[in-house]
Amino acid sequence: MATNQPKWLDNAIFYEIYPQSFNDTNADGIGDFQGIIEKLDYIRELGCNALWINPCFASPFGDAGYDVSDYYSVAPRYGTNDDLKRLFEECHLRDMHVLLDLVPGHTSVEHKWFKESMKAERNPYTDRYVWTDSIWEEPQGMGCIRGISDRDGSCAVNFFSHQPALNYGFYKPELPWQQSMDAEGPKATLEELKNIMRFWLSMGCDGFRVDMAGSLVKHDEDGKGTIRLWQNVRAFLDEEFPSAAMVSEWGEPDKSLQGGFHMDFLLHFGPSHYNDLFRCEEPFFSSRGKGDASEFVKKYLENYEKSERKGLICIPSGNHDMDRLARSIHGDNLKIAFAFLLSMPGAPFIYYGDEIGMRYVEGLVSVEGGYSRTGSRSPMQWDDSVNAGFSTAPAEKLYIPQDNSKDRPTAEKQMADADSLYHEIRKLIGVRQSNKALQSKGEIQFVYAEKNACPLAYLRHEGEEKILVVINPAAREAEFACDFEPVETIYRFGGDMKLQQGKMTVAPQSALFIKVK
Ligand code: GLC
Ligand code: CA
Repeated sequence: MATNQPKWLDNAIFYEIYPQSFNDTNADGIGDFQGIIEKLDYIRELGCNALWINPCFASPFGDAGYDVSDYYSVAPRYGTNDDLKRLFEECHLRDMHVLLDLVPGHTSVEHKWFKESMKAERNPYTDRYVWTDSIWEEPQGMGCIRGISDRDGSCAVNFFSHQPALNYGFYKPELPWQQSMDAEGPKATLEELKNIMRFWLSMGCDGFRVDMAGSLVKHDEDGKGTIRLWQNVRAFLDEEFPSAAMVSEWGEPDKSLQGGFHMDFLLHFGPSHYNDLFRCEEPFFSSRGKGDASEFVKKYLENYEKSERKGLICIPSGNHDMDRLARSIHGDNLKIAFAFLLSMPGAPFIYYGDEIGMRYVEGLVSVEGGYSRTGSRSPMQWDDSVNAGFSTAPAEKLYIPQDNSKDRPTAEKQMADADSLYHEIRKLIGVRQSNKALQSKGEIQFVYAEKNACPLAYLRHEGEEKILVVINPAAREAEFACDFEPVETIYRFGGDMKLQQGKMTVAPQSALFIKVK
């Protein structure tokens, strides 16, 4: 387990910025660092105190920047390295922290390492990627790039077929081309990864969200090799950057926390189930009140136990890989869903635009490897000016077309309306930040979570402080056996509760946080 847990993670509330779609200040239709800097006060006012910025490094953008061609330079479309440094500084001035997105598992085919590794003659990059010894041999179970190199071999890929897999070795090499984790090539890859981290941490970033963190060592079913690799990275951090924060995209908290990560964030196609109350056929946050909280709670508790009940699992409102929350959850249910998100352990992550209920834009042609994800990546809607204040470029030059419905939500409209989702989230963050039991490390104990029944009730506690959270998305009253003694309601959405003879009845479509004894 990680030794140095930065204090700020205890009450961190992340705001995920997809930089190309956030705010464009030079009218090229693509968001930029200056645009982020100009909106830091907006993010701070909402209550978020930390950022996760999606990859902003040089890239041909075949997977929106998850195909890096130079880890040491930012993509010119966002600005310069100095601009990013200024962004770190501006965040720190506001007591905010920044995680960059580290993509350690693969690069773009345009990376100079890959070009060198495709050459027939041996060179320092020959072993930087996972190659077989012959073009006729495919790396088992991994997909590959073949037929474009002078080198006689096939190169394994990690995700799309233009993302060659970096070589950190095989847990148990079985074939001649499979190298061990301790071979020179894999060791050099790992050292280079540390150099990259060193570079950005020295410049002022506060840590990393690590892309597909569990994917590094190959044929490593139980993750033992990959855990060992991250422990090695953590040892380096403890020595040189002890306060660096690490959040994994892994989805198996037992493994990632053993590897020295502070928190685990879900892998959208992985086994985590962190999002099962929203993203399923019958979402729990619906006035039908038919969703199954018990299944979610079962899976959550399995993960919670595995993370030594430390509450280090992060639940996001959404991200650049999933459908917008507002695609399946509407109206008051969005507010109720945020009451849940913002009262769970671990650091909550709010995906840009989810705080105003931005919609999934249907029917878009894929942009930069987004495919069905493209509809969740449309430019932020700030106000009623041209292109909703995102950019002054002609609309057809925007990175992705915007939601063009007349009643599309904007930050400006939501901020002007005291009953908006934006204000509810702001209020919820305020309550979370003034009650330790609700923050990242407060313990959780589920009180009522039954199959196809409402409400969902859980106790958050830390020391003497005990807060009962009761969430009822159903359009009808709901009740459960409750032997806590209410002291004070610190948050209420919808009607109040009644407590009689050990039975609590809560109003339709309501959420309550109650201090109890
Ligand atoms: C992660 C990212 C996703 C990307 C993939 C490959 O899952 O979140 O956007 O396409 O990794 O890097
Ligand atoms: Ca721009």
